[in-house]
Amino acid sequence: MKVISDYLCRYKNYNFFTGLTTAEYIDSLQSFKVRDSDIFLITYLKSGTIWTQQIIISICELDGGLNEYPNNMEQMPWLEYMKGHEDYSLRPSPRLFTSHLTPALMPLGLKDKKAKIIYVMRNPKDNIVSYYHFSGKHIYVNLMLSDTLYNYTVVGSSWFDHIREWHSKKDQYNILFLTYEDMILVRSVTKICSFLGKNLSEADVEQVVEKATFKTMKKDTKANYEFIPKDKISGNFMRKGQIGDWKNIFTVAQSQRVDQLLQEKLAELTGQL
Ligand code: A3P
Repeated sequence: MKVISDYLCRYKNYNFFTGLTTAEYIDSLQSFKVRDSDIFLITYLKSGTIWTQQIIISICELDGGLNEYPNNMEQMPWLEYMKGHEDYSLRPSPRLFTSHLTPALMPLGLKDKKAKIIYVMRNPKDNIVSYYHFSGKHIYVNLMLSDTLYNYTVVGSSWFDHIREWHSKKDQYNILFLTYEDMILVRSVTKICSFLGKNLSEADVEQVVEKATFKTMKKDTKANYEFIPKDKISGNFMRKGQIGDWKNIFTVAQSQRVDQLLQEKLAELTGQL
């Protein structure tokens, strides 16, 4: 892996947090043995990952139980990071995984369309604001969208490329696309249940909804990620949880810059088709 900064290293067009994974491990994921019952949550950072984790975990718990883990991060680990070098083949089904990876780095077995993937995306302006607070405010507005700039500063890939790559390959996977903005809880929980083939009663759905509200999650020590040591991250995972917070942060010029970048990207994309 090529070192980019104190906290970032780069491999195969993707920026990883330093010290949490290796090139060999990322390569080994290609042959990771996927099970039909596996559920993968895939997002670009700061798009509502831990929110959706809480929904998926609560649904599976009510549906028939899950093995107990100390918190949501261990219940639904990030595939790309070598948390304690755990051998996931020893985990009982259903196994739940989270990832911010692009399709090219994911297990090839996912293309058999058996395991289920839930992909969540978020308005890029709110996404940038969330990242801005989370990362200690050293992210500038245009970095996360522009692929020439993200290479040196942002974890993952560019926001646009992440969504484009997953969306353009959607026919190869068993995948449900959701947006943060559309996460009206009852409707989303029902949609997720139906995609996962889980038959929950109305009372169970209500219970999942209650566990996934911002207020409840903020107090839930298994779900709020306050168990991550403060020296590892600058901001809180559970910050504001609102739609449109970008309006409180962006200048008019910054907002226009994002609009312009999106226009350019969409034009590129249309040109490609
Ligand atoms: P903000 O920083 O805008 O508040 P991720 O989990 O991908 O890192 O995303 C974090 C963002 O999701 C944060 O956004 C966080 O507040 C928001 N979030 C987490 N749980 C939420 C919930 N239950 N309801 C609404 N937003 C939530």
